[in-house]
Amino acid sequence: MSPRTRVVKVNPRAPQKRLIQAAAEVLRTGGLVAFPTETVYGLGADALNAGAVKRIFVAKGRPRDNPVIVHVAGAADLELLTGRVPEEAGCLMERFWPGPLTLVLPRSASVPDGVTGGLDTVAVRMPRNRIALALIAALGRPVAAPSANLSGRPSGTTAGHVLQDFAGRIDMVLDGGPVTVGVESTVLDLSRRPPAILRPGAVTAEDLEPYLGRVAQGRRAGRRRRSPGTRYRHYSPRARVTLTEPGDREAVAGLVDHHTRRRKKVAVVLVGHRFRATGTARPIVRHMPRDLEEYARRIFAVLRELDQMAVDEIIIEKTPEEGIGVAIMDRLRRAAARQPRAPR
Ligand code: TXA
Ligand code: MG
Repeated sequence: MSPRTRVVKVNPRAPQKRLIQAAAEVLRTGGLVAFPTETVYGLGADALNAGAVKRIFVAKGRPRDNPVIVHVAGAADLELLTGRVPEEAGCLMERFWPGPLTLVLPRSASVPDGVTGGLDTVAVRMPRNRIALALIAALGRPVAAPSANLSGRPSGTTAGHVLQDFAGRIDMVLDGGPVTVGVESTVLDLSRRPPAILRPGAVTAEDLEPYLGRVAQGRRAGRRRRSPGTRYRHYSPRARVTLTEPGDREAVAGLVDHHTRRRKKVAVVLVGHRFRATGTARPIVRHMPRDLEEYARRIFAVLRELDQMAVDEIIIEKTPEEGIGVAIMDRLRRAAARQPRAPR
């Protein structure tokens, strides 16, 4: 792997051709390029090059059975990747692509096993980001890209976050500024009945139901079994995370006092309202926007920032579970879960 990581600033509105060509050349020769999407930064490799895909797993420390998403520049690229495309997939692509909706479809034989973790399906999406689309088009092949973070850590939403995890370990980072969505795409399994949301994102069950009828979600989607990625602890800062009910300031104050007395470094992450310290405890406080879309854009950056400050305990006030709040709470619950770390 490259001892130096080239950081290349790219104009997100009008990506410079020369820079995109250089990045595509790195992918063509089997290298790794991190790039922005609208959701989070991705760590990209040529999806049809098994050796390059393997390098993604090594760089991330990602378990081999956790498949990665393949990024395309248009629905036409699907022919290479999938077998029969279910009818409703066409409607969904028309309505939601480019955008934060990943479709799990039957795979074709040309997709390397490393991409799918040996499953008979492949996850595909078309990102809504000009740099990402230009890169895929310049390569002329689909790009495999999990989120650009070390396995188990919060996803990267700026080029700086990507460098925290991968400086010196990947070939190039395309810096297109901060992302616009902030949580990873909705993963929708169309390979079985009823369709199931394996991971909630900005495209919600309510958005999908007009096209699909009933959509399974949560426990009923059986996502532990079907989406290997959701088995492992995820989105985790190094600190311990505890969630409190919306507006329950007493619970927050109680936990702050408790941990402070044990000489822990404590942070609280609140929705909107001010924190009033009781007693002598002076925790680090981060106020999050009430607007859930803005909250989503900021949450991973806040978790990373608190890690850098070497916080021991993070107390996070739950958000309402509506719209993108379902995805936010999914990530917060997993950050708080005492699940095993993924095997290396
Ligand atoms: O927004 C996103 O989706 C970002 C950006 C970079 O596109 N990518 C991303 O990739 O979040 P990753 O690898 O961190 O998460 C992919 C999720 C995992 O939970 C994985 O298990 C699931 O999608 N997945 C991938 N292929 C699958 C398949 N064939 N069947 C079921 N789940 C699959
Ligand atoms: Mg990820």
